[in-house]
Amino acid sequence: EINFFFPKQQTLAVIKPDAMEEHREKILEEIRGSGFSVTQLKEAVLSREMAEEFYKEHREKPFFSQLVDYMCRGPCLMLVLTKENAVEEWRAMMGPTDPDQAKATSPNSLRARFASDILHNSVHGSTNEQHAEEKIRFIFGDICSGTGPTGDGETDR
Ligand code: TYD
Repeated sequence: EINFFFPKQQTLAVIKPDAMEEHREKILEEIRGSGFSVTQLKEAVLSREMAEEFYKEHREKPFFSQLVDYMCRGPCLMLVLTKENAVEEWRAMMGPTDPDQAKATSPNSLRARFASDILHNSVHGSTNEQHAEEKIRFIFGDICSGTGPTGDGETDR
Protein backbone atom coordinates (compact mmCIF):
# COMPACT_ATOMS: atom_id res chain seq x y z
CA GLU A 1 0.00 0.00 0.00
CA ILE A 2 1.38 3.37 -0.99
CA ASN A 3 1.02 6.35 1.30
CA PHE A 4 1.37 9.61 -0.51
CA PHE A 5 3.08 12.11 1.73
CA PHE A 6 2.67 15.79 1.07
CA PRO A 7 5.36 17.62 2.99
CA LYS A 8 4.32 20.67 4.95
CA GLN A 9 6.17 23.89 4.45
CA GLN A 10 6.79 26.68 6.94
CA THR A 11 6.76 30.40 6.42
CA LEU A 12 7.21 33.39 8.70
CA ALA A 13 4.31 35.81 8.91
CA VAL A 14 4.41 39.09 10.82
CA ILE A 15 1.49 41.34 11.70
CA LYS A 16 3.13 44.77 11.70
CA PRO A 17 2.55 47.37 14.47
CA ASP A 18 -0.19 49.46 12.82
CA ALA A 19 -2.18 46.38 11.82
CA MET A 20 -1.86 45.03 15.39
CA GLU A 21 -3.90 47.97 16.65
CA GLU A 22 -6.94 47.46 14.42
CA HIS A 23 -6.82 44.30 12.34
CA ARG A 24 -5.07 41.64 14.39
CA GLU A 25 -8.12 39.48 15.18
CA LYS A 26 -9.45 39.64 11.63
CA ILE A 27 -6.07 38.65 10.20
CA LEU A 28 -5.70 35.75 12.67
CA GLU A 29 -9.19 34.55 11.84
CA GLU A 30 -8.37 34.55 8.11
CA ILE A 31 -5.07 32.73 8.70
CA ARG A 32 -6.87 29.97 10.58
CA GLY A 33 -9.74 29.90 8.10
CA SER A 34 -7.27 29.33 5.26
CA GLY A 35 -5.99 26.06 6.68
CA PHE A 36 -2.65 27.24 8.06
CA SER A 37 -1.49 25.73 11.34
CA VAL A 38 0.06 28.34 13.62
CA THR A 39 2.99 26.30 14.93
CA GLN A 40 4.86 29.09 16.73
CA LEU A 41 3.63 32.46 17.91
CA LYS A 42 5.32 35.38 19.62
CA GLU A 43 4.31 38.95 20.35
CA ALA A 44 7.22 41.34 20.82
CA VAL A 45 8.41 44.87 20.30
CA LEU A 46 11.44 44.59 18.03
CA SER A 47 14.50 46.55 19.05
CA ARG A 48 16.07 48.77 16.38
CA GLU A 49 18.92 46.29 16.10
CA MET A 50 16.53 43.39 15.55
CA ALA A 51 14.49 45.29 12.97
CA GLU A 52 17.70 46.27 11.14
CA GLU A 53 18.88 42.67 11.13
CA PHE A 54 15.45 41.38 10.09
CA TYR A 55 15.41 43.66 7.04
CA LYS A 56 19.18 43.61 6.39
CA GLU A 57 18.59 42.78 2.70
CA HIS A 58 17.20 46.33 2.36
CA ARG A 59 20.00 48.13 4.22
CA GLU A 60 20.98 50.20 1.16
CA LYS A 61 17.44 51.17 0.16
CA PRO A 62 16.24 54.78 0.58
CA PHE A 63 13.29 53.61 2.71
CA PHE A 64 15.40 51.54 5.16
CA SER A 65 15.40 53.86 8.17
CA GLN A 66 11.67 54.56 7.84
CA LEU A 67 11.04 50.83 7.58
CA VAL A 68 13.01 50.20 10.77
CA ASP A 69 11.19 53.04 12.62
CA TYR A 70 7.85 51.59 11.58
CA MET A 71 8.70 48.02 12.57
CA CYS A 72 9.75 48.93 16.11
CA ARG A 73 7.10 51.50 16.99
CA GLY A 74 4.90 48.94 18.77
CA PRO A 75 4.34 45.24 19.24
CA CYS A 76 4.42 42.89 16.26
CA LEU A 77 2.89 39.43 16.17
CA MET A 78 5.24 36.89 14.63
CA LEU A 79 3.86 33.55 13.48
CA VAL A 80 5.21 30.41 11.93
CA LEU A 81 2.56 29.22 9.49
CA THR A 82 2.65 25.58 8.46
CA LYS A 83 0.86 24.15 5.45
CA GLU A 84 1.64 22.63 2.08
CA ASN A 85 2.98 25.43 -0.12
CA ALA A 86 2.82 27.86 2.83
CA VAL A 87 5.32 30.40 1.44
CA GLU A 88 3.44 31.01 -1.78
CA GLU A 89 -0.02 30.79 -0.22
CA TRP A 90 0.76 33.34 2.49
CA ARG A 91 2.30 35.71 -0.11
CA ALA A 92 -0.90 35.37 -2.13
CA MET A 93 -3.05 36.11 0.94
CA MET A 94 -0.97 39.24 1.68
CA GLY A 95 -1.06 40.57 -1.87
CA PRO A 96 1.53 42.84 -3.53
CA THR A 97 3.85 45.09 -1.50
CA ASP A 98 2.09 48.26 -2.67
CA PRO A 99 -1.56 48.45 -1.56
CA ASP A 100 -2.53 50.45 -4.68
CA GLN A 101 -1.34 47.55 -6.79
CA ALA A 102 -2.98 45.12 -4.37
CA LYS A 103 -6.34 46.91 -4.73
CA ALA A 104 -6.05 46.70 -8.51
CA THR A 105 -4.94 43.08 -8.82
CA SER A 106 -6.11 41.27 -5.66
CA PRO A 107 -8.81 43.26 -3.85
CA ASN A 108 -9.42 40.50 -1.31
CA SER A 109 -5.81 40.40 -0.19
CA LEU A 110 -4.85 41.60 3.30
CA ARG A 111 -2.77 44.48 1.96
CA ALA A 112 -5.55 45.65 -0.35
CA ARG A 113 -7.84 45.90 2.66
CA PHE A 114 -5.56 46.84 5.56
CA ALA A 115 -2.40 48.54 4.26
CA SER A 116 -2.29 52.33 4.21
CA ASP A 117 0.71 52.76 1.87
CA ILE A 118 3.70 50.87 0.47
CA LEU A 119 5.68 51.34 3.70
CA HIS A 120 2.82 50.79 6.16
CA ASN A 121 1.65 47.62 4.49
CA SER A 122 0.37 45.70 7.55
CA VAL A 123 1.89 42.25 7.09
CA HIS A 124 5.14 40.50 6.24
CA GLY A 125 5.74 37.13 4.64
CA SER A 126 8.90 35.32 3.58
CA THR A 127 9.64 35.36 -0.15
CA ASN A 128 11.06 31.84 -0.37
CA GLU A 129 11.77 28.73 1.72
CA GLN A 130 15.36 29.66 2.46
CA HIS A 131 14.40 33.12 3.72
CA ALA A 132 11.62 31.54 5.76
CA GLU A 133 14.05 29.17 7.49
CA GLU A 134 16.57 31.93 8.15
CA LYS A 135 14.04 34.41 9.57
CA ILE A 136 12.24 31.77 11.65
CA ARG A 137 15.58 30.85 13.21
CA PHE A 138 16.31 34.54 13.80
CA ILE A 139 12.97 35.25 15.50
CA PHE A 140 12.32 32.00 17.34
CA GLY A 141 15.79 30.50 17.73
CA ASP A 142 16.66 26.96 16.95
CA ILE A 143 14.26 24.95 19.11
CA CYS A 144 16.24 21.78 18.41
CA SER A 145 19.56 23.20 19.62
CA GLY A 146 19.11 21.78 23.12
CA THR A 147 19.65 25.18 24.68
CA GLY A 148 16.94 25.80 27.24
CA PRO A 149 15.28 29.12 28.02
CA THR A 150 17.96 29.83 30.60
CA GLY A 151 20.57 29.63 27.86
CA ASP A 152 22.76 27.31 29.90
CA GLY A 153 23.41 25.10 26.91
CA GLU A 154 22.34 21.89 28.64
CA THR A 155 20.72 19.30 26.44
CA ASP A 156 17.80 17.27 27.72
CA ARG A 157 18.36 14.08 25.73
P1 TYD B 1 10.02 43.99 -0.01
O1 TYD B 1 10.79 42.84 0.57
O2 TYD B 1 10.39 44.45 -1.37
O3 TYD B 1 8.44 43.67 -0.04
P2 TYD B 1 7.57 42.53 0.67
O4 TYD B 1 7.30 42.98 2.07
O5 TYD B 1 6.31 42.49 -0.15
O6 TYD B 1 8.35 41.25 0.60
O7 TYD B 1 10.14 45.24 0.96
C1 TYD B 1 10.16 45.09 2.36
C2 TYD B 1 9.37 46.19 2.98
O8 TYD B 1 9.98 47.46 2.69
C3 TYD B 1 7.96 46.34 2.43
O9 TYD B 1 7.05 45.44 3.04
C4 TYD B 1 7.66 47.78 2.71
C5 TYD B 1 8.98 48.48 2.54
N1 TYD B 1 9.10 49.11 1.20
C6 TYD B 1 8.93 50.49 1.08
O10 TYD B 1 8.66 51.17 2.08
N2 TYD B 1 9.06 51.09 -0.13
C7 TYD B 1 9.35 50.37 -1.26
O11 TYD B 1 9.45 50.96 -2.35
C8 TYD B 1 9.51 48.96 -1.15
C9 TYD B 1 9.81 48.11 -2.36
C10 TYD B 1 9.38 48.36 0.11
